[in-house]
Amino acid sequence: MKLIYSLLSLLLLDVLWGVGAAEGSKDVGRLINATMFNEMFKYQKDPQCPSQGFYSYQAFLAAASSFAKLGFATTGKLSTRKREVLAFLAQTSHQTTGGWPTAPDGPFFWGYCHIRETTKDSYCKADSKWPCAKGQKYYGRGPMQLRYNHNYGEAGKMLGLDLLKNPDLVAKDAVVSFKTAIWFWMTPQENKPSCHDVMVGKWRPTEIDKAAKRVPGFGVVTNIINGGEECGHGADTGVADRFGFYERYCNMLGINPGKHLECFFQEPFTRM
Ligand SMILES: *[C@@H]1O[C@H](CO)[C@@H](O)[C@H](O)[C@H]1NC(C)=O
Repeated sequence: MKLIYSLLSLLLLDVLWGVGAAEGSKDVGRLINATMFNEMFKYQKDPQCPSQGFYSYQAFLAAASSFAKLGFATTGKLSTRKREVLAFLAQTSHQTTGGWPTAPDGPFFWGYCHIRETTKDSYCKADSKWPCAKGQKYYGRGPMQLRYNHNYGEAGKMLGLDLLKNPDLVAKDAVVSFKTAIWFWMTPQENKPSCHDVMVGKWRPTEIDKAAKRVPGFGVVTNIINGGEECGHGADTGVADRFGFYERYCNMLGINPGKHLECFFQEPFTRM
């Protein structure tokens, strides 16, 4: 009898704790569920897509939760947290898209189609800190299409993995793959703010930024990721593709995408 009582109270505690966790939880799974995730990347298993379901919801959750303490998807109010995740999923959708203007359902259903960039380039730049490993190539891999030995080295350092020696881990292990993308998202590159700081409203433009028309919004995240090629020369199809994904995902979750979705007239942070 006693045993049954203690088992029952344990069960009750579990239920109560579960409810509490559901309400106050910082769990990314509460921001976006599997149904929504799979509907976003509807053609991930299409015969045309090399990914074939590689970018799973479970892998995304595992990677995201490992960055929860650093603030990914856990900063600010619920709408801010959702907006950050949707911006991340949108940018990485563009990076991996298999879509085209007349694709079934339109181009914004074709994110997460590619794993590896199709190229013969090794993307190896002389670097004394992160020297290229023999025979390895550092072309784009994973949701953010991580490129260059320098980035594989830095991301690997943070994740505790030797990605210089084994860059293809980013194309073979989906959790590692998502982690490299979130690492990029969270980490300021060169003279740029982090994508994370922009999307959670932490980034404040300097006078230089203001003169360059760089203002908070999804557009400046595009500028961070690929501004040298896409921003500052008027209308650009890449920029439009990025915010097309973003608007679709925001609509799905009933989230206001905010202002300044493009960077058509923003100066890039760095001129390539
Ligand atoms: C998933 O999330 C959507 C939008 O937030 C919601 O409408 C739907 O009921 C959820 N589905 C499940 C199975 O929880």
